[in-house]
Amino acid sequence: MNPKLDFVFARRSVRVYQAKDVGDDLVRDILEAAMAAPSAVAKDPWEFVVVRDRQMRAEIAGALPNGKMLAGAAVGIIVCGDLRRAHDGQLSYLLQDCSAAIENLLLAVSSLGLGACWLGVHPREERVQHIRGLLKIPEHVIPVAAIAIGWPAEAPKPRTRYRDSAVHRATW
Ligand SMILES: Cc1cc2nc3c(=O)[nH]c(=O)nc-3n(C[C@H](O)[C@H](O)[C@H](O)COP(=O)(O)O)c2cc1C
Repeated sequence: MNPKLDFVFARRSVRVYQAKDVGDDLVRDILEAAMAAPSAVAKDPWEFVVVRDRQMRAEIAGALPNGKMLAGAAVGIIVCGDLRRAHDGQLSYLLQDCSAAIENLLLAVSSLGLGACWLGVHPREERVQHIRGLLKIPEHVIPVAAIAIGWPAEAPKPRTRYRDSAVHRATW
């Protein structure tokens, strides 16, 4: 692992958090990093719902079988995409753009000493509808993922998952 890329390998999913607040300034910094992501034709179709209320986070987690830690986080960010703004109105561009924003967000979280975990929402329709209803998200906006964020109470080690067999040189 090239030490210049430590910030990439140090980003791990953190699922246990301290009972400590994450301030609005940090949340803004994280979202600014998210919105610096690449986006097809720079359409920036992403939208973010910042959920601080613990009860609401617990209700969202109710629809996420592997996302119960959202209730114990300091803040949840629901990353959504607006189909009307996505390049060509295509879901695939929306998902690619939102995924790029999520990775930027996760790298920012980790670089700031915070911890986060990506919780899958789309394409599970029951999760999409549950979150849409709770957060009053309009029909043309798709909740793609929920991100649980907090000060870490566990420290997964940096690691590489490099697999040489995944690399096809010149042709497949
Ligand atoms: C689309 C997507 C959905 C995910 N959903 C969940 C989830 O519901 N619960 C969870 O604990 N982790 C979830 N993860 C995190 C992965 O489990 C994690 O990134 C993977 O195990 C690699 O570990 P690392 O993030 O520590 O490198 C999700 C990741 C992605 C990209």
